[in-house]
Amino acid sequence: MEFLPKKVRTSTLKEFKASGHKFSCLTSYDHLTAGLFDQSGIDVLLVGDSAADNSLGYSSTLPITVAEMATFGRAVASAALRALVVIDMPFGSYETGPADALANAIALMKPTGADAVKLEGGKRSADQIRTLVEAGIPVMGHIGFTPQSVNVLGGFKIQGRGDAAEQLLEDALAVQNAGAFAVVLEMVPSAIAGEISAKLDIPTIGIGAGPQVDGQILVWTDFAGMTAGRPRKFVKRYANLGEQLASAALNYRTEVANGQFPTADHSFED
Ligand code: KIV
Repeated sequence: MEFLPKKVRTSTLKEFKASGHKFSCLTSYDHLTAGLFDQSGIDVLLVGDSAADNSLGYSSTLPITVAEMATFGRAVASAALRALVVIDMPFGSYETGPADALANAIALMKPTGADAVKLEGGKRSADQIRTLVEAGIPVMGHIGFTPQSVNVLGGFKIQGRGDAAEQLLEDALAVQNAGAFAVVLEMVPSAIAGEISAKLDIPTIGIGAGPQVDGQILVWTDFAGMTAGRPRKFVKRYANLGEQLASAALNYRTEVANGQFPTADHSFED
């Protein structure tokens, strides 16, 4: 078993980058999965605003609120003994300016016990990142495909191809210069992600960004096979929990209907 540091801090991720150790991150929205992932040595648990579609049934990440994120954040942070817990700032909680961003970041950090926040955008979010960091709140950036801007980006499209690569690098540098401790690169060609990772001092975390980044992140419901339909190209399913749960529910229903459950083993005597 490789060496696992006691508590992952933002500085630990920088040490991982410096030593070439590739670290792993998963989203989590609840106490049970957070505990399991933490015990498995996952380094970062992201309370992603993907909870909107994965847990709350919204059709995108846009409707989820600060209060809803805080509920998920508390459930995750209270289970994580080792992992760094990062909570997403939802759409509408930081775009209006640094003062709103600070108030909402505090509203997410205080009740949850999360270690850091994440917000989307490069240059456009630099002032917000700087304000939060100056106030003592560690910030993870998120550039490339940014799901909260899906309506402007015209759908789930790869970012940073061709001439857009230069813009992406500028965004990455803006996030770093504003004081972020790491940055997520989502749906970016591998070579561009590698180039950005080499140019940045802070760690890069890829999702659909190939192998030349410092860490990887997957949405837990994708990685565990909980989501229906064909997964997107960058997702690897490490389990088929969705199928297993559906089949367990079917067996249970059948056994109840047939009188096979409960038996004496599952019943109390006088
Ligand atoms: O909310 C989320 O799940 C995310 C990941 C895609 C990085 O931001």
